[in-house]
Amino acid sequence: MSADMNRQWRVARYPKQEEVIGPEHFEWTSEPVPEPEDGQFLVRTICLAPVPAQRGYLEKSHQSFLENIEIGAVMRGRGVGQIISSKHPDYAEGDIFVGSLGWQDYSIQHPRGAEFVFSTKKVKTPISPLSTELSILGQAGATAYFGLLEVGQLKAGENVLISAAAGGVGSAAGQIARIKGAGKVVGIAGSDTKCTWLVDELGYDVAINYKTENVAERIEELFPDGIDIFFDNVGGDILNDALANLALHARVVVCGFISTDYSPGPHYGPINYQCMVYKRARMEGFIVFDYWDRYDEAEQDLLGWYKEGLLINAEDEDDGLEHMPDSLASLFKGLNTGVKICRVSPDPDIFGG
Ligand SMILES: NC(=O)c1ccc[n+]([C@@H]2O[C@H](COP(=O)([O-])OP(=O)(O)OC[C@H]3O[C@@H](n4cnc5c(N)ncnc54)[C@H](OP(=O)(O)O)[C@@H]3O)[C@@H](O)[C@H]2O)c1
Repeated sequence: MSADMNRQWRVARYPKQEEVIGPEHFEWTSEPVPEPEDGQFLVRTICLAPVPAQRGYLEKSHQSFLENIEIGAVMRGRGVGQIISSKHPDYAEGDIFVGSLGWQDYSIQHPRGAEFVFSTKKVKTPISPLSTELSILGQAGATAYFGLLEVGQLKAGENVLISAAAGGVGSAAGQIARIKGAGKVVGIAGSDTKCTWLVDELGYDVAINYKTENVAERIEELFPDGIDIFFDNVGGDILNDALANLALHARVVVCGFISTDYSPGPHYGPINYQCMVYKRARMEGFIVFDYWDRYDEAEQDLLGWYKEGLLINAEDEDDGLEHMPDSLASLFKGLNTGVKICRVSPDPDIFGG
């Protein structure tokens, strides 16, 4: 395919319920690079960030916060890119842009406000690397920030448990908990290497390997006074084990449920939910884009902590648009550490030096 063409991944077929997503569900196509019309601009993709929710867009019956993607359509996906031609007065050639770019080299875009779930943003002061806009300053960082501080209402000294702790959201959440003066911060992850990384690099107090340890016993042992905030990315058995060990007035932040989402049904609810009553606990789901109108607030804090060296931006980069289906699949196999990024083109030379 010519570099002047727009290479794309289109949806070829929906995976069966228990099937792991992979390249076989997509078709690699190309078409001429489109031209913007009045009010639009053309964006060249720099990086895309696969997220587990994208698996949910490929299922007709799936209940999601977004509609499913039709067979034959370009796969939806958030990314950072550069505007290379514009017919919009407020968006100039060279500007850096974040939005739903899709799994492709080029996309036609226009500004979208907070009313749209995949809100867009012109990056006022880009920092290097530009992938940061998708990781610590992007969806992963903002999800951790609003999940922990708004939904979880974290207070200094409280004890926090985080599942999928070495993933994109989890790696940010643990660090934010630490910065905000949490008491004990415990992570759950799927390998000893990840657990060591959580403690040695990210400041978690302890990490539990859910594949080799008895999670229920370890949680009981590590939280003698109960969990004040459980930030859950996983659901299933880990959620059950956490519910059995809540502190009085605990908050369960329901961020995701990657362990149960695509297993064959029927799906059962958490078995220890009666503990919500005994502990007068609160369990609340959220979608990060609900907080889009407050994004500047998160960005200011996250950027400040990042510049001060308090917050590590953990990224795990694959190289090449052609690898995008494998990048998405890697999330379900636990192959990523930190935010999974797929690089589509190099960062443009906008930083000088
Ligand atoms: N509510 C929102 O607005 C929002 C926004 C973004 C993301 N999310 C959700 O947050 C969660 C994390 O998203 P992310 O983008 O940061 O992905 P991620 O954590 O970077 O990747 C997923 C991780 O989940 C773990 N995992 C996979 N299958 C598992 C299983 N069966 N049991 C336990 N752990 C499993 C894997 O790590 P291990 O090696 O530890 O298994 C994997 O690395 C997802 O559930 C996602 O849907 C929600």
